[in-house]
Amino acid sequence: MDKYIIRGGKQLHGQVEISGAKNAAVAIIPAVLMVNGVCRLENLPQISDTDKLLHILSLMGAKVRYINPGTVEVDCSHVYLSDDIFPLTRQIRASYYLIGSMLGRFGRARTTMPGGCNFGVRPIDQHVKGMKALGASIGIARGLITAETGGSGLGGARIYLDKVSVGATINVMIAAVTAKGRTVIENVAKEPHIVDVANFLNSMGADVRGAGTDVIKVRGVEALHGGTYSLIPDQIEAGTFMTAVAAAGGEVQLNNVIPRHLECISAKLREMGVSVTEYGDSIVVKRDRPLERVNVKTQPYPGFPTDMQPQITAVLCQAEGTSVVTEGVWDNRYKYVNELRKMGAEITVSGKTAIIEGGRKLTGAPVAACDLRAGAAMVVAGLCAEGLTVVEDVVYIERGYQDLVGKLRSLGADIVSVSEPDLPDAPAEADAG
Ligand code: EPU
Repeated sequence: MDKYIIRGGKQLHGQVEISGAKNAAVAIIPAVLMVNGVCRLENLPQISDTDKLLHILSLMGAKVRYINPGTVEVDCSHVYLSDDIFPLTRQIRASYYLIGSMLGRFGRARTTMPGGCNFGVRPIDQHVKGMKALGASIGIARGLITAETGGSGLGGARIYLDKVSVGATINVMIAAVTAKGRTVIENVAKEPHIVDVANFLNSMGADVRGAGTDVIKVRGVEALHGGTYSLIPDQIEAGTFMTAVAAAGGEVQLNNVIPRHLECISAKLREMGVSVTEYGDSIVVKRDRPLERVNVKTQPYPGFPTDMQPQITAVLCQAEGTSVVTEGVWDNRYKYVNELRKMGAEITVSGKTAIIEGGRKLTGAPVAACDLRAGAAMVVAGLCAEGLTVVEDVVYIERGYQDLVGKLRSLGADIVSVSEPDLPDAPAEADAG
């Protein structure tokens, strides 16, 4: 297992390119299954989740061709259902999008319950509700999900989601694209990647309107055709670099971003005394003075993203005074707090609230990445901690961040990725740090 070793205390300076959006990519790749033809995807992030999803498509008969590292062509002209995908579908959350795309393409679906980060219970009842409303019968038994449409295919319906859910919104939207008639999905999520998936589907011939508002309307089309689509930049990767600069200090220009998508993060950082300047498709983040305390509540977009909650908490450990973070999306997203405590953080968690007593210098320590964003928070904390931080289980981080170590190194951070056999003394050094 690889680990990251970080010697904290180096300011960050320079420019960094933000990659394509992970949570758009992991929905668009399954949706490609609906396309009868060749689909060219550009600005795809090179992360293990996208690699696995492309592998899943190839196990279903798709021809996958890498044109260059961020561009891939997928030909789904001759695809079929295959149980060979199960070991992979179990590993990733986004495999649930295969339910919608398989139903749309084959009129039936076979996949496993999804994997992914563990934030307590992660139900898929709203996905199931949506598919049933479109006319599918769904069975879930022994970790396997099966769905059928009984030969008549899916039909448009009016669906109200009881919970604002990114996954259910996208899944039902994908399935509705080739359902007969008109589908109206109400109380939907509005994240930038939802708009991106809708734009992808429309560029392949779908008729989806309203993505980015509370109601999405889909008029079913016969079939999707091939085409080229370039993904939006990753809001959360950009936000993570913004918090890295806030934590370590310095001045960094982030390129290939959509500043509007970052407003919820920029506003909070400005409140903390960080300067954020927006340009057309870049922003400059500068931190040259002590950080001020703030309260943060995570909410569905356009609120502060839950996927930035661990990183902002790591930064708030350094802000003078007491900050309160409230998690508004997941039941249990504070497991990483124990790891931050190993570095000297003073955080009390009560239910969905974390109280951070800031102004304490963090000290390097051996810590684990409990999940993707928790791992990113460990890196952010390590960048400003005194001494050596060793982050273990970085496989979680690499699910969602393209070359995090290389990008941080290019900004002047002292961070390396090492494989277990290369690491004789580092943990002991970290203990001493
Ligand atoms: N929920 C239900 N029923 C459902 C679906 C969701 O009750 O059928 C609840 C969840 O328990 C949660 C809330 O609704 O309390 C929101 O869940 P959502 O469905 O929006 O989450 P998701 O689709 O499983 C995606 C991202 C997560 C991100 C959330 C929220 C992907 C693959 N995952 O998950 O991203 O935290 O939306 O924005 O897109 C990450 O990137 O690190 C990550 C975990």
